[in-house]
Amino acid sequence: MKALTVVPLQAGTATLSDMPEPPESDGPVLVETLAVGVCGTDIEIVSGDYGWAPPGEERLVLGHESLGRVMEAPAGAPMAEGDLVVGIVRRPDPVPCASCSVLEWDFCRNGQYTERGIKELHGYCSERYRISPDFAVRVDPALGLLGVLLEPTSVVAKAWEQVDLVGGRLHWEPETVLVTGAGPIGLLAALIGVQRGLEVHVLDQVSEGVKPDLVRGLGATYHTGKLAEACPDPDIVIECTGVADVVLDAMTNVGAAGVVCLTGVSSGGHLVEVDEGQLNRSMVLDNVAVVGSVNANRRHYELAADALAAAERSWLERLVTRRVPLENWSDALQRQPDDVKVVIEVNPV
Ligand code: BGC
Repeated sequence: MKALTVVPLQAGTATLSDMPEPPESDGPVLVETLAVGVCGTDIEIVSGDYGWAPPGEERLVLGHESLGRVMEAPAGAPMAEGDLVVGIVRRPDPVPCASCSVLEWDFCRNGQYTERGIKELHGYCSERYRISPDFAVRVDPALGLLGVLLEPTSVVAKAWEQVDLVGGRLHWEPETVLVTGAGPIGLLAALIGVQRGLEVHVLDQVSEGVKPDLVRGLGATYHTGKLAEACPDPDIVIECTGVADVVLDAMTNVGAAGVVCLTGVSSGGHLVEVDEGQLNRSMVLDNVAVVGSVNANRRHYELAADALAAAERSWLERLVTRRVPLENWSDALQRQPDDVKVVIEVNPV
């Protein structure tokens, strides 16, 4: 079968490979892949900056944002032939650590977790894959192709859960949230903010095109320019750029008792000058909390499914700005200025 593969940590090695059928050891549910979303992590892997092949193999099948249709499932499984499913990305570490032992693999403590399409497990960008029912989530068939948004939404659902847990350390009645970055993660974070009845502000660099429209379409406010001017003293910042200056600005400009949730994975190597004393002083005197958040466990996929079900379908449709057939995979991996979510179509939905 065809699969999009890469030799991790070697730029320029992505290709459409002929791979063996998925092994039964991957699980009893056989899935026909319909679509795979492309995100910054995939671009990093293809650029040779991230990713691990399965032990003993040279190539890694890409793809961690998936949508598929069940071809075969064992009797009694929570999914049946024809159901639309999304594969969970992370698997618990084999030890397992205290978090993985309670299925909170998103908080793995020893780093021995694996991730499909990213770390030591083949991803979903192949014509078919196999999976255990424990790691597949059914999606509302009414969502169709938009089910491919479940994985990035799960990442955001986890981030919002972290904000709630950290905010809950005090009497907490947040009113405003600033989301930095209007990529898919930022826009989905803004969607959930609006669904919670918050006043939502989104900051990005571009001043026109689909991003400002999508933000306005939610009833949120779009900003460019300096963070401190865009939205002074927000109760919450959900940082979705990973850009060092923006991260620092978020930490120094969040309101008193505010929560900053960092979701962007920075590439490192960008040195910025910081007045550490001032940063410390403002964080202490304002009781500021900064929390990092990565990945998602099954509970977050379920929260994400609720958020997508409650969203306006036409808005979600506008989030998917390009659909590229598998044969033209390299177009999908080349960023274009007006891209929000690019989806590789593997089989027709
Ligand atoms: C994925 C997460 C993953 C993270 C780090 C993100 O792009 O959505 O599931 O944990 O990359 O590998």
